[in-house]
Amino acid sequence: MNTTLSGIETWSLLTLSAACVGIIINTFHGDGEPLIASLAFSGLAFALTFSLIRWLGAVFMKANLKGRDMSKVKKTEIPETMGAVCAVVYLLTIIIFIPFPFYKDIVAATSGGGNKEVVIERQSVETGRILHRFPHNKLASYLSAILSLQSVVLLGIGDDLFDIRWRHKLFIPALASIPMLVVYFVDYGVTNVVVPVQLEQYLGKMVNLGWLYYAYMAAIAIFCPNSINILAGINGIEVSQSMIIGCLLLANDALSLYAAPSSPTPHPATDPHLFSMYLLLPFMGVSIALWWHNWYPAKVFVGDTYCYFAGMVFAIVGILGHFSKTLLLLLVPQIFNFIYSAPQLFRLIPCPRHRLPRFNARTGLLEPSVTQWQQPPSKLVALLMNLLAKFPLPLVEVEKNSEGEIVESTNLTILNLWLVWFGPKREDRLAIELLVMQALCGILGLFVRHELALWVFRQDNRE
Ligand code: UD1
Ligand code: MG
Repeated sequence: MNTTLSGIETWSLLTLSAACVGIIINTFHGDGEPLIASLAFSGLAFALTFSLIRWLGAVFMKANLKGRDMSKVKKTEIPETMGAVCAVVYLLTIIIFIPFPFYKDIVAATSGGGNKEVVIERQSVETGRILHRFPHNKLASYLSAILSLQSVVLLGIGDDLFDIRWRHKLFIPALASIPMLVVYFVDYGVTNVVVPVQLEQYLGKMVNLGWLYYAYMAAIAIFCPNSINILAGINGIEVSQSMIIGCLLLANDALSLYAAPSSPTPHPATDPHLFSMYLLLPFMGVSIALWWHNWYPAKVFVGDTYCYFAGMVFAIVGILGHFSKTLLLLLVPQIFNFIYSAPQLFRLIPCPRHRLPRFNARTGLLEPSVTQWQQPPSKLVALLMNLLAKFPLPLVEVEKNSEGEIVESTNLTILNLWLVWFGPKREDRLAIELLVMQALCGILGLFVRHELALWVFRQDNRE
C-alpha cells in the first residue's frame, strides 16, 4: 500500500484543514455556533484520519495488525484495525468540541469570558444561583457518551488483537452502556412507552416498562455493534452501511429540528437532535476517510474496532437522543441479518469461523459460501432447513447425500442470500446492490417515522 500522500492530496487536505480552522475561529464571534463548529471539526477529523491511515499502514503491518483479502485472486495481506485510527481521532474530536455547545451557557453562567474566579461574586457562588444556569445534565449526557464509547473502543481493539470469545464479547457493550443509562435514569428517567391507538383500549395510553426499559436499552447497546460486525466480509460493506445509517440519522435529526415548532422556549425534542448531530457529524468525517481506503479493491481493513465503534455511536445517539425506536427502524437490514444468522450464531447449525461469500478464482465472481455438516442434524432442524429451502425464493440452499441427509448448507447471512437469489456477482457489485437496498429500506423507515406514525400513535411526539 502507498504510505505517503500525493501532492494533490496533501494540498487538498491542507486547504480543507485551513478552511476548517478559519471557520472554527470565526464561530467565536457569535454564540459559538456549535453546529457550524461541529461541521468544521468534522472536516479536520476527516483530514487527520485520512493522513494517519496512509502513514500508519506500514506500522500496523509491522505490528501484525493485518488480514488477508480473501475475495481476490492474489490474496494479499493488508493492514487491519484501521477503525482504531478513526475511533481515536473521533474521540479526540468530540473531546475538543466539548466547550462549543456549552459556550453560551459558560458565558451566561459566569457572565463573561468563561473566567469564573474574576467575575462571579462570592455570595452568588455560595448560593449557587448563577452556576445553576449551567446545564450540568447535558454535559453529563455528553461525557457519559464519551465514556461508553471509550469502553467499547477498548473492547474492539482487544478483539482485533486477541480474538475475544463470542459469548464474552456480547456483554461488554452492555457494561459499557452503564454510564449512559445512569445519566438517562437521573436526567430523563422516562420508562413509559406510548401505546398504539389500536391497542389503547386494552393497555391504556401509556405502559410503564420500568426496569425492562433499561434492559431494552442495554440490548440496543449489545445489538448495534454486533449487528454491524456480522454484516461484514466484503470490501467496503462495514463502513458504507455505517455511513448510510449515519446519513439517515442525520436526516432524521434535520427533519425533527425542521418540524419542531418555533417558540421562545425550545421544544424538548430540539436538544437531543442537536446532540445527536454533534456526535454524528465527526463520525461521518472519520468514516469517509476510512471508506476511501476500504472500498473495493480495499487497501486497508476496518477491523472489529470500527464495527463496535460505529454501532455504539448509533446506540448512544438513539438512547440519549430518545429515539431508539426510530433507530431500530433504520436498522432493518441489520436486524434481518441478525435474526437470519441466529441459527448459526447460537450453534443450532454449524458455524464456521468465516461466513463471507466464496470467491471463485476462475470467474472472478462471488458465490454463496457453504458449511459442511459434520453430522446429520436433528429431525427438527432438518425439517426446518428443508422448509426454508423449499420457499419460492429459497432462504437457504442445501446439499444432501444419498440417504437424503443434509451434508452442507449455505451460510446464513444476507450477503450469501443475495447471491442465492440473484446469482454470482463481482464483489463491488454485490456491495453496491446491498447498499442501495439498505438505503431504500432506510428512506422508507424515515417516511414511516415522519409521515405514517400518526396512524399508529395519537401524536407525533418527535422522540
Ligand atoms: C465476522 C463474521 C464472519 C465473517 C467476518 C468477515 C459472524 C458470526 N462473523 O467475524 O462470518 O467472515 O466477520 O469480516 O458472522 N475479510 C475479507 N474481506 C473483507 C473484510 C474482511 O477478506 O472485505 C476477511 C479478512 O481476512 C479479515 C477478516 O475477514 O482479516 C476479518 O474478520 P474478523 O472481523 O476478525 O471476523 P469476525 O468479526 O470475528
Ligand atoms: Mg469483524
